[in-house]
Amino acid sequence: MPKDKWFYKKSRKFTLSSKLLTLCVMLCGGILFCWLFYPNIANSGPYLNSAHGNTIYGVKRSATGFPADYTQGNCAHCHEQHAGIGGSEPAPNTGGASGPDKFLLFDENHTSQTVNFCFDCHTSVGSYQSGGISLNRSYSYNFGGNTNAGSYDSNILAAFSHTVVTGSSHHLPDIVSQALGKTMYDADGVAWSLPANINPCDACHNPHIAQRNKNTPYDAAKSAISRPSDHNNKWGDDLTERMNAAYADYQAPYWYGSTTAYEPANNTTANGSNLPNYVRLCTDCHNDLNTINSTNPRLPGTPRAIRKLSWKTASAVVTADGHGALNGGINYARSPYVNGGYRTLSCLDCHEPHGSPTNIDLIRSSVNGVSISVPNTSDASWQSFCFSACHVRATHNSSKPGCAGCHYHGGGRGGF
Ligand code: HEC
Ligand code: HEC
Ligand code: HEC
Ligand code: HEC
Ligand code: HEC
Ligand code: HEC
Repeated sequence: MPKDKWFYKKSRKFTLSSKLLTLCVMLCGGILFCWLFYPNIANSGPYLNSAHGNTIYGVKRSATGFPADYTQGNCAHCHEQHAGIGGSEPAPNTGGASGPDKFLLFDENHTSQTVNFCFDCHTSVGSYQSGGISLNRSYSYNFGGNTNAGSYDSNILAAFSHTVVTGSSHHLPDIVSQALGKTMYDADGVAWSLPANINPCDACHNPHIAQRNKNTPYDAAKSAISRPSDHNNKWGDDLTERMNAAYADYQAPYWYGSTTAYEPANNTTANGSNLPNYVRLCTDCHNDLNTINSTNPRLPGTPRAIRKLSWKTASAVVTADGHGALNGGINYARSPYVNGGYRTLSCLDCHEPHGSPTNIDLIRSSVNGVSISVPNTSDASWQSFCFSACHVRATHNSSKPGCAGCHYHGGGRGGF
């Protein structure tokens, strides 16, 4: 029987099925056994080094009826072994009358764009995390230094809540329908797949191993992400998984408001040796092979297929992108980029991974150290983006009408 079936099936009221019992034994026995007798074996080590398993800042539930004696970081702050604790189920009591939720989590794993197990803690209002979580701001804030009011989301739920009127968010229901449980291909054409019933956040994260890299100071040896094609490993913690290892021509953008310090650490390192290779993460899904249909309400032209793109030098399907490894050389560059230089950009030099409070297409509120404004696909938006951040002007007239019709990923005129 496939392993996932154990956790997927709900048992009847007051009846512990043998499958559930097996999971209970695995959770209780396994954890106790591993932690008490073999604290350093492979299975428990990564969890204990994870952000959730941390005994100082890890998971700690606050809910009426939740016993106070579970140590911070214990699995029981996310998994309820008997779909309840001490004979009753602390709030939220979901999954049917005292019945267990999938994976024995304390709430439904994924329901909609804004109702998700992870948001039970990664929010600022009503968090089940004792004391709340204060660190989880936008990429532009944490790793770009833009702390201007209104330019960033102050928690993860907020970043995923830009579904009407302004801003944009990665659409979780589409990650479920287009990526999970499917045969997908990475940018090299190697097939991968993830189980259909996992949390869409866990396409890019693994809650059992994810770490906190945004420390004081930034710690590149820790990683919060896992590639969907390699779910049980952290991505970016090893030197071989950094941006400079894949692209010797990487040039980090400036830290917000600075001309001497660079992303992501607000220091002088500028060659990507401290940056996870985000291109490999994003291109596990976004490349010239996978077809992704979007119902994202904020995507211009929605619903439609997301454009295919190639960050490599050549593609049989689309025009390889100029901001990728296609070495066209930059024209009219703004510092620190130099005219004629060949540069491969990181996707997160321009995009937020979760959402953007004011801009479409997950475009960051600031790029290369300056604020930009891209609320729609107008020429003013594209001019703000291209000419404030990285180029002084274009070879053609800088007000050539209809920018968005020529400049997009995979587009015929030199890609994007
Ligand atoms: C019981 C509360 C709780 C739940 C539920 C929870 N988290 Fe967390 N999470 C935390 C805490 C606490 C931290 C550490 C916070 C910190 O860094 O200060 C954390 C940290 C993280 C980190 C590491 C980055 C960081 O800022 O430390 C990631 C990634 C993460 N969580 C993702 C998830 C995902 C994905 C889910 C859902 C599958 C999830 N979390 C569910 C409480 C929770
Ligand atoms: C498309 C991939 C992707 C998805 C889907 C995704 N994340 Fe992330 N997440 C990232 C990336 C990339 C970062 C920045 C990582 C880093 O610190 O290197 C990040 C960072 C984080 C952090 C740390 C933020 C900080 O302060 O540094 C948390 C917590 C987190 N994500 C939680 C979530 C939750 C919860 C969900 C689902 C609601 C989710 N993520 C969905 C890619 C993703
Ligand atoms: C931050 C919340 C969180 C914590 C803490 C946590 N888990 Fe999980 N766990 C999840 C989620 C969410 C899933 C469901 C799979 C998915 O969506 O990725 C899961 C799934 C599982 C599964 C079944 C699927 C699999 O990955 O094999 C097992 C077994 C499991 N967890 C064991 C544990 C153990 C043991 C611990 C403590 C060492 C633990 N979990 C701590 C969130 C958590
Ligand atoms: C697990 C697969 C997966 C990964 C990995 C992934 N995406 Fe996506 N992405 C999707 C899906 C599915 C959609 C369609 C839903 C939507 O429009 O948000 C999408 C849509 C988008 C959009 C269009 C959204 C809009 O509002 O215009 C952007 C931009 C985007 N992704 C950027 C990224 C970046 C940057 C990364 C790397 C941090 C990334 N994606 C990683 C699955 C993925
Ligand atoms: C008809 C298609 C088309 C339109 C419309 C267009 N561009 Fe371009 N753009 C190009 C091409 C092709 C290049 C490559 C350089 C060249 O051949 O002139 C380019 C180059 C650029 C460059 C890179 C610098 C350079 O000269 O190589 C920037 C920046 C730029 N365009 C911005 C814009 C902006 C902003 C707009 C809208 C105000 C716009 N473009 C409208 C086709 C277009
Ligand atoms: C130089 C800035 C820049 C970089 C670097 C960049 N993007 Fe984009 N991206 C944009 C802009 C601008 C748009 C909106 C125009 C368009 O659709 O291409 C966009 C749109 C997208 C879309 C939505 C496409 C659609 O169908 O509407 C996806 C998906 C995407 N980017 C993914 C990525 C990935 C993955 C990477 C890294 C491999 C990346 N981007 C790197 C600027 C950038």
